[in-house]
Amino acid sequence: MTIKWVLTGLVAVVLLGTACDSSKKLPATSQSAKGLKDAFKKDFLIGTALNTAQIQGKDSAAARLIQQQFNAVTPENIMKAEIIHPQWNVYNFELADQIAALGKKQGMKVNGHTLIWHSQLPAYARNIRDIDSFHTFFTNHISTVAGRYEGKIASWDVVNEALNEDGTMRKSIFLDKLGPDFVTDAFRLAQKAAPTTELYYNDYNNEQPAKREGCLQLIRKIKEAGVRIDGVGIQGHWHIGKIPLKAIEESILAYSALGLKVMFTELDIEVLPRNFSGADVSQRMDNNPTLNPYVNGLPDSVQQQLAKDYEDLFRLFLKHKDKITRVTFWGVNDGQSWLNGWPVRGRTNHPLLFDRQYRPKPAYEKVMKLKTETATESRGF
Ligand code: XIL
Repeated sequence: MTIKWVLTGLVAVVLLGTACDSSKKLPATSQSAKGLKDAFKKDFLIGTALNTAQIQGKDSAAARLIQQQFNAVTPENIMKAEIIHPQWNVYNFELADQIAALGKKQGMKVNGHTLIWHSQLPAYARNIRDIDSFHTFFTNHISTVAGRYEGKIASWDVVNEALNEDGTMRKSIFLDKLGPDFVTDAFRLAQKAAPTTELYYNDYNNEQPAKREGCLQLIRKIKEAGVRIDGVGIQGHWHIGKIPLKAIEESILAYSALGLKVMFTELDIEVLPRNFSGADVSQRMDNNPTLNPYVNGLPDSVQQQLAKDYEDLFRLFLKHKDKITRVTFWGVNDGQSWLNGWPVRGRTNHPLLFDRQYRPKPAYEKVMKLKTETATESRGF
């Protein structure tokens, strides 16, 4: 053996050593996938809700994470009527235009949220008494807003939360002024204004049997009227240790049996005490110290339970990946979650996959591992 060969061998050993060493420092999952969106690329889109600072690019740590982890975005608030249509003849498109542009630039699908919702309505709309005027507001709002983003965003939550827990129609200004057909009418108007944009119905707890039945009926009614509906969003505001996996699975099957795409649109898992489930934004609870136990961080046992819940959920999502098109988290990191302020103000909540320092939590690792494990299994190792 010549000196040259010995040296080459030595260099190879050193290089190999360095490679192995540096790979040890990486989280196990990052060897085969860069982020959630890459890991689940062949399964479904992975989305997040964006707040105003994130849409404006003012949160650089979030910007990095968004680019790395997500390929779908939903504006958390800025496309709701009170912001985008603050007065009868005034539309405020600036931020919505920005999220559309951000989506285009970064190759992220934008879901418009939401055209018709009883909450976050501008004051003038809430105070309309006359039925014809309310009908005009309804028509103008959908036509103008959906029309502006036709070809610029991928989809709309056309109607949000029109149902009660028992599956009947929720009492709202829309039901009151326009009657129960307002949902079908909203989809008809959206279809006309945005013929190539996907149109969804979105709600919370619509995986629960009674509400699911009401939701299925609503969908059938829209279809029977010859109007297009492409998908149904299950918001997915669930509670730690109580993920309704059976109801979720039954719902995925029932909705997709009607030919609809199924998506999980506002996923987060509440870790703090709460005396009700769901996400009715008008429900509130008074604050007291027992309701805010994790100000200094999550105890390990709770962290592990959260990780298990997310793991179970994503395992179920993967089982039905042929029916699920998107899973969107309601926020980028724990510090930005709406659950810090609702239903109790000023709490420290921990419902997402990234903590307040934008670091991945054990739940993230568990979710990512589902994919690395499947990849390994299918390779026959
Ligand atoms: C929430 C936002 O996250 C908050 O910032 C806002 O104050 C209230 O609305 N269901 C929905 C979302 O469809 O639009 C709600 O978002 C959460 C419940």
